[in-house]
Amino acid sequence: MGGIPHDHYEPKSGAEKWLHSRLPIVGLLYDTLMIPTPKNLNWMWIWGIVLVFTLVLQIVTGIVLVMHYVPHVDMAFASVEHIMRDVNGGHMIRYFHMNGASLFFVAVYLHMFRSLYYGSYKAPREVTWIVGMLMYLLMMGTAFMGYVLPWGQMSFHGTAVITGLFGAIPFIGDSVQTWLLGASAVGQPALNRFFSLHYLLPFILLGLTIVHVWAFHSTGNNNPTGVEVRRTSKEDAAKDTLPFWPYFVIKDLFALAVILAVFVAVVGFMPNYLGHPDNYIPANALATPSHIVPEWYFLPFYAILRAFTADVWVVQIVQFLSFGIIDAKFFGVLAMFGAIAVMALAPWLDTSSVRSGRYRPTFKWWFWLLVIDFVVLMWVGARPAEYPYDWISLIASAYWFAYFLVILPLLGVIEKPTTPPSTIEEDFNAHYAPKGDGAKPVANPAE
Ligand code: HEM
Repeated sequence: MGGIPHDHYEPKSGAEKWLHSRLPIVGLLYDTLMIPTPKNLNWMWIWGIVLVFTLVLQIVTGIVLVMHYVPHVDMAFASVEHIMRDVNGGHMIRYFHMNGASLFFVAVYLHMFRSLYYGSYKAPREVTWIVGMLMYLLMMGTAFMGYVLPWGQMSFHGTAVITGLFGAIPFIGDSVQTWLLGASAVGQPALNRFFSLHYLLPFILLGLTIVHVWAFHSTGNNNPTGVEVRRTSKEDAAKDTLPFWPYFVIKDLFALAVILAVFVAVVGFMPNYLGHPDNYIPANALATPSHIVPEWYFLPFYAILRAFTADVWVVQIVQFLSFGIIDAKFFGVLAMFGAIAVMALAPWLDTSSVRSGRYRPTFKWWFWLLVIDFVVLMWVGARPAEYPYDWISLIASAYWFAYFLVILPLLGVIEKPTTPPSTIEEDFNAHYAPKGDGAKPVANPAE
């Protein structure tokens, strides 16, 4: 697929030409920064930059924390207390890192639901979507392993529960669990390897971010209309787009400033609000907390994991048909990973010829129901596994699968979409041109 036609970097001075013919790095940076971007992008297109910022924040604060943290079962908890009490500014560094993980997930969920609403996952952006899904999995792995490091009660018993899930895999479960933990139970080998991986994975995420950006720079961004930028000529493309610098950089920085004001207020005034008090109790293998709850961002998938108990008829049928190999515990694990897998397959499950949800009247209802479903799963994931929460989580889990496996494929066939504008320029002028007699379209500053 050819890129959107636009001006490329031209080296002018002798020095620029010298470097450009040997290493065209300035050209690469110029083309990245000046990339033609649909001029109608709305505020839901800011989350990518928020994610990049948060990833860098996590790496920088993490590197400082490691200067004082000790990955040893006898010292980890005390070293975190040492960071909180003795290290200059240590408590702020730790609170930024702790809450930075939450900001990361707030941004990623909004980014993902934005993509789901505007059909950003659809052709030709499937690779951007799949790389995004890999990044999401890596984020979850990184966050999980980071939570183990303070070696509090939740760190310890949460690790036991989550790695215990792998023990549910038929035949090889025990070996997989032992392999993950480096021993038959949670202890020093697990702490060491989780520390090592928690340090490594963010850099892999950084690498994948470059691939992700490369992928959507190759196809061009999607936009609220889902209509593509015209590629017929440089002049037409210029009518649909604006260069990323300075227009979108300023817009993104403004949004980032507003979000950071809220974030800094949370870090400063209520840094432990999203955490669990039990993690301020040192890990004790002999005292299991009465109620083990994961961090808020894992709750929707944790709810799906717990929804499929042995008395659910689907589970019973599958258990019968698989001669007991797939029992309720393993079914739950499959459902949890399956919930992410069906989302990854969205580009191929959505059959609609219209990309953006803006022009899909029926889709809108199902989409907002999915958003509510996600919030309900998050809420029910933190409730005890008893009536009526068991029913609520079962219904909400069923809707999650139905949305991707039944509703998306069917809607594309039965729904009558409204007509999207024929160009991005038309949509832009309809929204931003002055109204009334003699109204002229807004002049394009790029022209
Ligand atoms: C560390 C995590 C991530 C970073 C740093 C990141 C960064 C970005 C950036 C900068 C953009 C362009 C601007 C924007 O749309 O906001 C973008 C677009 C996109 N992202 Fe992500 N992203 C991440 C995770 C994800 C995840 C988890 C998904 C979904 C599974 C995803 C799916 C997409 C899609 C489909 C687009 C294309 C939207 C378009 O073309 O307009 N991303 N991402």
